[in-house]
Amino acid sequence: MSKKRVLSGIQPTHDSFHLGNYLGAIKQWVDLQKEHDAFYCVVDLHALTVETDPKLLEKRTLLSAAQLIAIGVDPKLCTLFIQSHVPAHNQLAWVLECITGFGEAGRMTQFKDKSQKGGADRTNVGLFTYPILQAADILLYQADFVPVGEDQRQHIELTRDLGQRFNTKYKEVFNIPQAQIIKSLAKINDLQDPNSKMSKSAASMAGVIELLDSPEATIKKFKSSVTDAGKEIKYDEKEKPGISNLLTIHSAFSGKSVKEIENEFAGKGYGDFKLQVAEVVVEALNPIRVKTQELMDDQGELIKILKSGAEKANQVAGKTLSDVYTALGLINNG
Ligand code: TYM
Repeated sequence: MSKKRVLSGIQPTHDSFHLGNYLGAIKQWVDLQKEHDAFYCVVDLHALTVETDPKLLEKRTLLSAAQLIAIGVDPKLCTLFIQSHVPAHNQLAWVLECITGFGEAGRMTQFKDKSQKGGADRTNVGLFTYPILQAADILLYQADFVPVGEDQRQHIELTRDLGQRFNTKYKEVFNIPQAQIIKSLAKINDLQDPNSKMSKSAASMAGVIELLDSPEATIKKFKSSVTDAGKEIKYDEKEKPGISNLLTIHSAFSGKSVKEIENEFAGKGYGDFKLQVAEVVVEALNPIRVKTQELMDDQGELIKILKSGAEKANQVAGKTLSDVYTALGLINNG
């Protein structure tokens, strides 16, 4: 039986990924590449919706690829590439835009949040069509599963709707994908504001654990994390969102169950617990930081890996795009 196909992407909008990206998405990417035909991309075109200095975008795109490999995304097991290296993403996005309702795109909550924050004058059209480009990323590869965090669920729903709509209107070209979301890790929260998700665009980075932070900075952030009234180390999302978030993080890195950790810390204080979580995380992140730097020291090799990924991605994406064009009645120029 042929392997199921997986596709996912991540934006290169910052120097470092954070723990939410790692636990909600990248950890799954690493696991899924073993038994699946996996395609993973750094979505540099999506990052253009936020104005960035070109030199910085270039650096962050490479840093993103380096971090993915350092975490365990293995270019020998999967296809790792940069979105802009595969022109079919933009080409299919246009086609999908033509079957997307204006109101439908306007209902995307990420667009609503971001455009409300920025105001109408600072909201670009790219932000509005962003989820449609994302749908193109996924549908081009005939993906079965899309490993993501909870915040992407609505975008995957839109992808499914657009794929189905095209199939019904024109021809059965697309496989209809499913979001793959691990419930316990789907929303890692900010350490300073444990009711909000950890986010690259947080107003303050004090509650955002970045993978490339120094050990000292990581420990400091954990030590000053916001906890809850009471003294008990117990998982209770409603009453103890801060402690619950820390328990989730500890469990994901240590491999211990939440119950085991609760028992280990019975009778101990929040201070001891926070320090232990910090240590577990620092131990896991140290090798990632070192490996990322090594990869960045040999950018020629990194670019070679990404180009080879793009070659394979272009083949798969090109075939789907060609089927789409034929189905639409566009004259084949091949
Ligand atoms: P991005 O770059 O914001 O985030 C990358 C991945 O990290 C997940 N994530 C989280 N998971 C748990 N807790 C959090 N606090 C947290 N914050 C982020 C996200 O859910 C995501 O899986 N639109 C996408 C990028 C994209 C994409 C795609 C994803 C473009 N094309 C095709 C999948 C398939 C985004 O902005 O992710």
